[in-house]
Amino acid sequence: MQKLIIKGNKPLRGEISIQGAKNSVLPILASTVLLTGKTVLENCPALSDVFCACRILAQLGVKATINGNTALLECNQNDDAEISEELMLKMRSSIIFLGATLGAKGRCTLYYPGGCELGPRPIDMHISALRKMGVRITEKHGALICDTPSGITGAKINLPFPSVGATENIILAAVKAKGETVIYNAAREPEIKDLANFLNKCGAKIKNAGQSKIIIEGVAKLSGCEYSIMPDRIAAGTYIAAIAATRGEGIINRVNSEDMESFLPVFEQMGCKLYPYSNKIYINAAHRLSSVKTIRTMPHPGFPTDIQAITMAVLTKAQGTSVFVENIFESRFRHVDALCKMGADIRVEGKAAIIEGVDELSGARVGSTDLRGGAALVVAALSATGKSEIYEISHIDRGYEAIENYLTALGADIKREHILKKDF
Ligand code: UD1
Repeated sequence: MQKLIIKGNKPLRGEISIQGAKNSVLPILASTVLLTGKTVLENCPALSDVFCACRILAQLGVKATINGNTALLECNQNDDAEISEELMLKMRSSIIFLGATLGAKGRCTLYYPGGCELGPRPIDMHISALRKMGVRITEKHGALICDTPSGITGAKINLPFPSVGATENIILAAVKAKGETVIYNAAREPEIKDLANFLNKCGAKIKNAGQSKIIIEGVAKLSGCEYSIMPDRIAAGTYIAAIAATRGEGIINRVNSEDMESFLPVFEQMGCKLYPYSNKIYINAAHRLSSVKTIRTMPHPGFPTDIQAITMAVLTKAQGTSVFVENIFESRFRHVDALCKMGADIRVEGKAAIIEGVDELSGARVGSTDLRGGAALVVAALSATGKSEIYEISHIDRGYEAIENYLTALGADIKREHILKKDF
């Protein structure tokens, strides 16, 4: 086990380049089960979730070799179609292997990813869409046993909510299906577009990814290719938040600011100066920030739930009252207690969190409860006076490539230490 030790209240200054996107690389890795030949993924982030995805791939016959930020995938097209319960529980987003494995092998046995730190995470939309495509699904002792007696067939699927994971699972099941699949009310997140761009480079026929109506025409064969994973917009937002919270100044390289239009204006409303140019963003937050009007998390292009906790950490010290309404996940305010321990004034009322800006946060010993909540604690600790110790950082490592290295490059006083469990 490890912890982060941060000595805060120091403006961050410097320049960093952003890692590849976690939420893009995971479905792309899953999709390699469908391919023949070799695939090379550049800008592959070194994350614990990526290593877990590679272990799942090994169970499905794909050999993954990771060298720095390059992943080489070689698909052996074997018959293995079972993912162990241990790996399914390790990574909640492992459910995206369902569509890919079915599309590749016509059958799949896996286990419920279960609830998670963000509350219950049902998969009813994934299951009903796959059933419409000819997949037979039975449940036995917590396992989902799936087969396709007559193959997978294209279908018209109307999602009741634009679920990211369900949209990806349908795409993955449909790319090699018989006939055409149309997804209505599809998720429009940029990571869906990245998955489609990758699959199209492998020979798939996916139209309109990034829009509400996606059309997929099944093809017989997909071949591996070379592809570079898109930059991680949430990681970029996290480092922008860290600079903003510490009243710093910096340049964030290797970003696509268009993908961040759903949340960059909120930082501008707070009083940060942001100048996106080519694939960079310059940020300057020299003055005390101000509160913002009510922010409601929504599916893309709305304000992303993944950046809610991180933005909240910045707003704890902004002048005035800010309000968040969390519309996507039930339990996504679990970072609030730790922020209050550091001196924040936050009240949670059902789906809303009301933040009264305070003059100062003070360092504390706090534990991460989930990935983005953990990142929020890091942002708060960087702007707090004194020393903070952040525990349970395995959550943070799921989505941030050595977060302490990126922050050290921005001048933060942060280090990682090994600990015994009983320390916290
Ligand atoms: C993905 C992202 C996650 C992000 C989320 C919302 C990945 C690996 N993860 O998660 O970082 O926070 O999108 O942008 O890309 N739901 C159902 N039934 C279903 C599926 C979803 O009720 O069958 C509900 C969920 O419980 C949740 C909401 O729909 O309340 C959104 O979930 P979804 O868009 O599916 O999120 P994920 O794909 O799990």
